[in-house]
Amino acid sequence: SHDVESSWDDEFKKLVQNFPKERSWAGSNLYFYQGFWCPSLVLKAFISFQKHFQAFNSDVIVATFPKCGTTWLKALTFSTLYRNQFPWDENPLLTFGPHQLVRFFEYDLYLNNPFPDLQNVCAYQPRLFSTHAPYATLPTSIKDSGCKIVYICRNPMDMFISLWLFAAKLRDKNRESLSLDEAFDKFYHGISAHGPFFDHVLGYWKASQENPNKILFLNFEDLKEDMDSHLKNLAMFLGVPFTDDEETQGVVEKISKICSFENLKELEVNKKGVHTTGIPHTHFFRKGEVGDWSNYLTPFMIECLEKLIQEKLNGSGLTF
Ligand code: A3P
Repeated sequence: SHDVESSWDDEFKKLVQNFPKERSWAGSNLYFYQGFWCPSLVLKAFISFQKHFQAFNSDVIVATFPKCGTTWLKALTFSTLYRNQFPWDENPLLTFGPHQLVRFFEYDLYLNNPFPDLQNVCAYQPRLFSTHAPYATLPTSIKDSGCKIVYICRNPMDMFISLWLFAAKLRDKNRESLSLDEAFDKFYHGISAHGPFFDHVLGYWKASQENPNKILFLNFEDLKEDMDSHLKNLAMFLGVPFTDDEETQGVVEKISKICSFENLKELEVNKKGVHTTGIPHTHFFRKGEVGDWSNYLTPFMIECLEKLIQEKLNGSGLTF
């Protein structure tokens, strides 16, 4: 009701007054909330989501750090989970962007609505959502219910370059873009949307080690190298393994093909459409390759990052 919303407004205003603040890469603010930098645009939505979301045991959630392959994983999860609910040549991916089909909690559903109706918001069952929220900050109902989380991580150097170029596109036209040095300095200190990067990745990594049936941890690079076996794993994890018939009919290959960078990038909807946040869909498709960092990073940056990666991942069992 209106009263509940306005008292939540007041509560929110009081809350943020005390949060540390930094400039984001694209020029707005980041607030330090529960150990992570949250963009001002979504902070309120993020807290609404945390406070109000009720997970179902059957829910599936795509969780990612920005620029690690969110768009790709949304397409793959959507196509795998719902493959028997539409004729193949009518895959909704052909007419809608991955971000329209698998909607973000904080960048979409809760963005201008603290109490969205989530009963009927997904066109297919089970419900499929996404978030950039760090594991530690997820609503307890997600952690405690039987819902499943699919996470994708990416080599930090590629993620960094992807984010730097993405932020430059988002930046106000009349303001100069962040230089590579400035961006590097921020990244090195953990300052970027939903960062620190390593805390985000390690949070999901540890949770997936402890509870592999609940959290599937994927890598961008592994998917590039061997899509088919990872897709089979994904289907198994989601409780919808590919049947022998499907495998002989080439369903696995069909999914990997329709979700490929080359295919999605060329679709009309992804060339022209715009996300609820105002970001054109084209911004989510740049190069889609592994190792593009080598065209940008200086030897000094590479050395710093290598040391940082080693230090942060030490003892975790995770490698890049
Ligand atoms: P690059 O900037 O390196 O090209 P996110 O979806 O998390 O925002 O990440 C965006 C990155 O994933 C971009 O990386 C983008 O090009 C790449 N990407 C988008 N769709 C992809 C796909 N279907 N396959 C592989 N990479 C994809």
